[in-house]
Amino acid sequence: MQVVILDSAAEVGEYAARTILRGVSAGSIKSLGVATGSSPLAIYKVLQRHRSPELSALNAFALDEYVGLAPDHPESYAAVIRREVTDRLGLDPRRVHVPDGGAADLPAACARFEAAIRAAGGIDLQILGIGRNGHIGFNEPTSSLASRTRVKTLMSATRKDNARFFADASQVPSLCLTQGLGTIMEARKVILVAQGKAKAQAVVRAVEGPLASMCPASVLQMHPQATFVLDREAAGDLV
Ligand code: F6R
Repeated sequence: MQVVILDSAAEVGEYAARTILRGVSAGSIKSLGVATGSSPLAIYKVLQRHRSPELSALNAFALDEYVGLAPDHPESYAAVIRREVTDRLGLDPRRVHVPDGGAADLPAACARFEAAIRAAGGIDLQILGIGRNGHIGFNEPTSSLASRTRVKTLMSATRKDNARFFADASQVPSLCLTQGLGTIMEARKVILVAQGKAKAQAVVRAVEGPLASMCPASVLQMHPQATFVLDREAAGDLV
């Protein structure tokens, strides 16, 4: 695992975006795994400034989706990905995949999502944020380190953290679909970005703690090409 510590949150976004742009122009990134939440937004803004035919030809795979929000609900991840990724990067919506949280048969929707990743030849680079409890995707503590895309229950701490995107916490769904840790580990490269002091404890547990399902991000210690890109505050508790 590589750890890159930069002075500011803006530099974190810039560094991660440059890594992606290099891979896209070299032809080694054709499928990008995209996260929602606040952490990766700066990356998408930088990518938007460097739009190219190769960038716009990417396949994109979201990490997760809430269960029970209509795709046109502004906080469904289908809508967030459309706004922040598809539109900014000029992607073909047919190449953008988000797990279907509105499906009548959720396990079948998860299997379809995994099949779409396989059909695209796998994810070349996965962008991740990290939750304060160490989650990646919506793999909450105690998630199986080998898990695949599946239905999960969000912890109340995560629902509270995400309440800022909704009118109030009661509107945050309690179920979600998420790529599993096993799915994420199959991405050829992983870049996890974290900014701010609130992430410092999760970062130290992921990077220096024991490999443990209580801190799902610690599974990345086993990934051959995982990079944590941190600002000084998020790196503040590293030894
Ligand atoms: C988002 C996701 C989550 C977030 C994490 C951090 O698709 O899967 O793991 O990356 O909750 O969220 P922010 O970036 O909003 O602090």
